[in-house]
Amino acid sequence: MTNQNNSGSFGSSRGLLQKLKKDKNRKASSTRWIGRQLNDPYVLETQKRGYKSRAAFKLLQINEKYKFLFPGLSVIDLGCAPGGWLQIASQKVSSMVGKEKVVGVDLIPTETVPGSISIIGDISDKIVGEKLIKMLGSKANIVMSDMAANTTGHRQTDHIRTTYLLETALSFAIENLKKNGVFLAKCFKGGAEVHALSLMRKHFSKVHHIKPDASRKESVEGYVIAIGYKG
Ligand SMILES: C[S@@+](CC[C@H](N)C(=O)[O-])C[C@H]1O[C@@H](n2cnc3c(N)ncnc32)[C@H](O)[C@@H]1O
Repeated sequence: MTNQNNSGSFGSSRGLLQKLKKDKNRKASSTRWIGRQLNDPYVLETQKRGYKSRAAFKLLQINEKYKFLFPGLSVIDLGCAPGGWLQIASQKVSSMVGKEKVVGVDLIPTETVPGSISIIGDISDKIVGEKLIKMLGSKANIVMSDMAANTTGHRQTDHIRTTYLLETALSFAIENLKKNGVFLAKCFKGGAEVHALSLMRKHFSKVHHIKPDASRKESVEGYVIAIGYKG
C-alpha cells in the first residue's frame, strides 16, 4: 500500500546529519554512498510512502510543475524498474486493475504495481515497442523515459550512453504518441544531446529542461519535457 500523500514536497524532519561509525574495511566510496543515503530526506520519505524508488519524487515534482498526468490518459514508461514512476503515473491517470492504462518495460524485472503492466525487454528492440502498444491497445498520450545506462564514472562515456537512450526513447515516442502527446526523458547535458533536442523542437510545440529538487544537485542528471506532439 502506498501512502496517499501525493505531493512531491514535504517537511524534512531530519535536521541533524547522521554520522557513520568508522570501519577500516569499508571503501571510502561506500562510506560516502551510505552517508548520503542516511542523510537524504527523500530516501526516508520514499520508505514512509511505500514508493518503489526515490525516483518517484522526481516525477511528482515534474508533474507538479507541468501538470501533464491526469485521469483518463495512457502512459508508456521506458526503463520502469523498480516501479516508482509506474506508481505515480497509475495514481495520477487513475489506471485500474484489469483496465490498465499504464504500461512499462525494463531490462530487469519490475515489482508489481497495481494499475500497471510491465514487461522485461530492451526498448531498442522494435518488437518490444510493438508489444507495449499492443498491451495498451492504442498509441499513448504520454511516453516517459527514466532510462539510464550503468555509469562508468567517465563523464563523456556516461553522457554518450545516456544520450543514446534518450534518442531511442524519442524515436519510439515520435512513432507511438497520439497528437498533442507529451514526451518526458532523462537527459544529461554534455553536447551530444543537441540532435535529440532539435528533433524534439521540430515535432513538439514546446521543449523545456527541468532539474527537479529530488535530482541530486551534484549530479549531471536532468530531464527534458516536450509538450504538444504535432503528429
Ligand atoms: C533510473 S532506473 C528507472 C527508475 C524508475 N523510473 C523508477 O521510478 O523506479 C533506469 C532503468 O532503465 C533501465 N534501462 C536501461 N536501458 C534500457 C533499455 N534499453 N530498455 C529498457 N530499460 C532500460 C535500467 O535497467 C534501469 O532499471
